[in-house]
Amino acid sequence: MLSQSFPIADLAVASNRHDVLDLQSRIARIDWSFADRQHAPAIEAIHPYPAKFIGDIPRALLDVLPVPVNTFVFDPFVGSGTTLLEAQRRGIPSVGVDLNPIACLISRVKTAKNPVGLLDNAELVNAAAQKNISPTRSSISNIDHWFKRDVQLAISALLEEINGIHTGEILDALRLALSSILVRVSNQDSDTRYAYVEKEVSKEDVFEQFIAAVKKLNKALLARNWPQSSVTVIEANTLRLKPEDLPGRIGLVITSPPYPNAYEYWLYHKYRMWWLGYDPLAVKEQEIGARAHFFKRKCHTEENFWEQMRSTFDLIDQVLVKRGYACFVIGRSKIHGRIINNADIIQAVAGEHGFGVVSRVERVISSSRKSFNLAHANIKTETVLIMQKNEA
Ligand SMILES: C[S@@+](CC[C@H](N)C(=O)[O-])C[C@H]1O[C@@H](n2cnc3c(N)ncnc32)[C@H](O)[C@@H]1O
Repeated sequence: MLSQSFPIADLAVASNRHDVLDLQSRIARIDWSFADRQHAPAIEAIHPYPAKFIGDIPRALLDVLPVPVNTFVFDPFVGSGTTLLEAQRRGIPSVGVDLNPIACLISRVKTAKNPVGLLDNAELVNAAAQKNISPTRSSISNIDHWFKRDVQLAISALLEEINGIHTGEILDALRLALSSILVRVSNQDSDTRYAYVEKEVSKEDVFEQFIAAVKKLNKALLARNWPQSSVTVIEANTLRLKPEDLPGRIGLVITSPPYPNAYEYWLYHKYRMWWLGYDPLAVKEQEIGARAHFFKRKCHTEENFWEQMRSTFDLIDQVLVKRGYACFVIGRSKIHGRIINNADIIQAVAGEHGFGVVSRVERVISSSRKSFNLAHANIKTETVLIMQKNEA
């Protein structure tokens, strides 16, 4: 899909020493703690996602970094689509890639045009599901441990009705709303704690919570007061992506890659994926940094992360315009007791590909940003690395 019509030289970001100094002083003026952060816009909170950006990070980067005309903002590890949303707010086309189908669903819904008739469709789905007394039983393994029998029946009935809907945006929106309540109606303690607790949830609660989630989603979508311009979401392994898989040349990269042995995106969304018809085990297999890879025979080490970031930069190097910027936000990891500074690895790999560091800032992660497996590494800060592709 990469258009041949944009010669790289024409799209180079104009830059001289004066520009770089000016840029560095503008970056230095950013308060990376975002202490003045007002309430997050409702669209950021339509579905839980671990280790997501606060919108202020890509917003601050888009404020100071240039994106040449006819190029895309690119997030190779897009998660819940925060970068895409912020690019769209400014009318800049963007593309995001993620392995995790729940991440791609959230990114699509956040940036799609408003699904007309969403509430009416949800009411119809809910009414039909409540009448369906014998939906096809789920064959998900260990399902009886995590979901009460009645709750399973309600989810199956809702899914049967939802999956019969043919309009892409409404189908995605209803699937997202259902996905967003699945942990709450299960016996899993919370979205940030993967532990069994006995919960009093009835079939009726599931139907009520589903409608409440659709209403919340609809309100958040309608509150977007910007045009839903071009966004491409690609469900794929970034390490296997080819330049021609992207929709055009890249003018700016803003991303937060997975950290080795820190978060487990596949595990966080395991039952969501099973219910929505995806295979979490296939995601786990290819997920960069998943903790499971560090506790098996022939376990992963820091070396794997070096190689994964080399593949990522091989791609970025091929698609990014000359003198384009690549911004990485990343914390530290702990692998078998040893602290790994992932920002150092990324900076070194970027250097191998001819990228120079324009700015490196350490920011404190808000204590309200939790995930159920963060505590083991005691990660309290993260690094914002802004790098520029050199001339050659
Ligand atoms: C730190 S999160 C990104 C969060 C994102 N900035 C947001 O605001 O939601 C890292 C993402 O990398 C994804 N990921 C892990 N391995 C991947 C791979 N091999 N290819 C593509 N995405 C991958 C994970 O699924 C996760 O969504």
